[in-house]
Amino acid sequence: MKKVRVRTVYPYDVLIGNDLTAEIVSRITDNCKKVILLWDEAVFSGYVAEIGNALEKDGREVMAVSLEGGESAKTIESYAKIMKIISEFNLTRSDVIFGIGGGTVMDLAGFIASTYKRGVELIQLPTTLLAACDASVGGKNALNMGEDKNVIGTFYQPSLVAIDTRFIDALGDEVFSEGCAEIIKTGYLGDAEMIDMLEERPLIKNRGDNDYLIEIIRRCIRIKASIVEKDEHDSGPRNILNLGHTLGHAIEAESNYSIHHGQAVAMGMVHMTRIAENKGIAETGTLGRLINILTEHGLEWRCPYNINVLAGHVERDKKVRGGNLTLVVPEKFGSCVLMKVKVSEIRKWLTEN
Ligand code: GLY
Repeated sequence: MKKVRVRTVYPYDVLIGNDLTAEIVSRITDNCKKVILLWDEAVFSGYVAEIGNALEKDGREVMAVSLEGGESAKTIESYAKIMKIISEFNLTRSDVIFGIGGGTVMDLAGFIASTYKRGVELIQLPTTLLAACDASVGGKNALNMGEDKNVIGTFYQPSLVAIDTRFIDALGDEVFSEGCAEIIKTGYLGDAEMIDMLEERPLIKNRGDNDYLIEIIRRCIRIKASIVEKDEHDSGPRNILNLGHTLGHAIEAESNYSIHHGQAVAMGMVHMTRIAENKGIAETGTLGRLINILTEHGLEWRCPYNINVLAGHVERDKKVRGGNLTLVVPEKFGSCVLMKVKVSEIRKWLTEN
């Protein structure tokens, strides 16, 4: 098992290993009498039973609440329904809520834990590679409001994140690739050595090597933690984690969400790297290397949409502040910079180079 300490105002550990159930249970304090497990119904129910039984054996009263995965889990209606269940279960402020699933469950469980009785302890057990390397760490949570994603939310750090690689091992290749996009993004913005490792030994082609998987996840969490520690509430430096995301969100929206998040981020990074190379900001050859590494990880890099079409979405991006949008622009592997561009000039910036 490996451990990364996230030194936010309230610090916590991220554990990465194979079969972490006993370790998770051992970390629950004696004050906790009741536990709610919010779990994505797509997760193997045997695992939820394993965690639930271990907690019960340890003397806690457990209630498991299954959720539909996907963005539909993040509605105000679903939030209200779960809050009622938790309240009827008489969960107190010294008890614990678990989120078990992918990114949407992490988001929902985080928001519930942060608002139920003004905050109860949260333990996140991500079961996808994407959620393990991004949503489970850093304390962002959210609900959607109609079509508008992530408009309601808080920053609320978990007290523990446990990444049990049994789940990552069970993922299909397509879902695994989605997670690889987020890993490549993290290396691109802050760990050139990890990019070298992934070029030499693509993660997706070495899925049987558990130590390698754990080491790559550890490096990702370390990078993310170091950025979150500097800017817990996303007021500046944390924006760097959005590499490939502004165009990625535009691609997701233009495709009516038929292109999934990780895949869209991969295409977004390719667009942005091409633009940065053409402008002389990124080192020549970066784009070729990026395309190669994405392809090696089973990711499509060719975007079906023209940059002009995507620019329309970018102009309406929710992250616009004071008429400006901060773009994450790559210089080379391991180094990206933040550039503030006026919304009125964004189309020109993206298309003329
Ligand atoms: N997913 C980006 C962040 O946590 O800031």
